[in-house]
Amino acid sequence: MQIPYLDHFTLLDEPYSTSPNPRYLYISPTHNLALEKIKWTIAARRGLAICFGAVGTGKTTIARELAARLEDDPSVSYVSITNPNFPTANQLLRAIIQEYEVGQTSKNYLELLSIFKNFLAERAITQKKTLVLLIDEAQTLKPPLLEMLRQLMNYESNDQKFLQVVLFAQEEFRARLQHPRYRNLVNRTAMSSSIETLSLSETEAMLKHRWWVASNGNKNSFPFTDDAIEQIFTYSKGIPRTQIIIADNALLAAFLLQERSINADLIHQVVKDRGSPDTQPEPEPQTIKRNVRKEESKK
Ligand SMILES: Nc1ncnc2c1ncn2[C@@H]1O[C@H](COP(=O)(O)OP(=O)(O)OP(=O)(O)O)[C@@H](O)[C@H]1O
Ligand SMILES: [Mg+2]
Repeated sequence: MQIPYLDHFTLLDEPYSTSPNPRYLYISPTHNLALEKIKWTIAARRGLAICFGAVGTGKTTIARELAARLEDDPSVSYVSITNPNFPTANQLLRAIIQEYEVGQTSKNYLELLSIFKNFLAERAITQKKTLVLLIDEAQTLKPPLLEMLRQLMNYESNDQKFLQVVLFAQEEFRARLQHPRYRNLVNRTAMSSSIETLSLSETEAMLKHRWWVASNGNKNSFPFTDDAIEQIFTYSKGIPRTQIIIADNALLAAFLLQERSINADLIHQVVKDRGSPDTQPEPEPQTIKRNVRKEESKK
């Protein structure tokens, strides 16, 4: 079914859909800093990078943008786990090994670790590959799974870690990591970054950028007045997902009123009608993505 307001605003696509599509990513200073820090940690093969952020600030979008950039780099093999809530470390390890298409396996957990270690060493040293493991929703990792990841990061030569791990996690994870049980993991963190909420001017830039993408570059049709953007910023407390939900609702409301322009009153009305948007996303099915290259998997 066609989105009702597309023709009304001469749009090709939905500008304010909540799916974390990197095509719509506005590289704000905070998103840029997080991406650059992670890229540096991977390039320098320093082991572990953690990206924290409140709910709905753009972690998954950044993870996808990073994956797209790694995809373009032939020296990198990455695996991306978007829901790491496995019951046991054994299952997570098996999922990682399967996605890297390691070829060898064992029913014994310790043997499996050893197989993976040999695989990593061979790829990192002989083939000079950078192996990257991206894990989104890392706040759901149970303690034994975190311990297993710490173990994987112990595999190293004199000058490099064989596996580069990037965790994307909600802010609560930062507090969890304070527990003494995670001291060894925290000590291995080469870099951590925080995605901050957007400022008023960044909110405006983000909303305009998304409009520009969805309207194929037609900036003139942008419907939000300065006052409307200010209200979206205030109601959302700078959280992009909330801003997008309000903006999308406002487009529909304006269409129903046959208005082209969206002012502060309409934003008040939208928020009054629907209540403060719930920033929690829909739960995702357990999915894994990878870019282990075809020529490697044939070997
Ligand atoms: N810099 C940005 N530019 C454009 N859109 C953004 C930006 N940051 C976030 N968004 C949008 O906000 C919404 C939420 O982003 P995302 O799902 O990446 O957040 P999250 O931090 O992963 O949330 P959660 O904590 O619930 O996992 C998405 O629609 C995403 O496209
Ligand atoms: Mg997310």
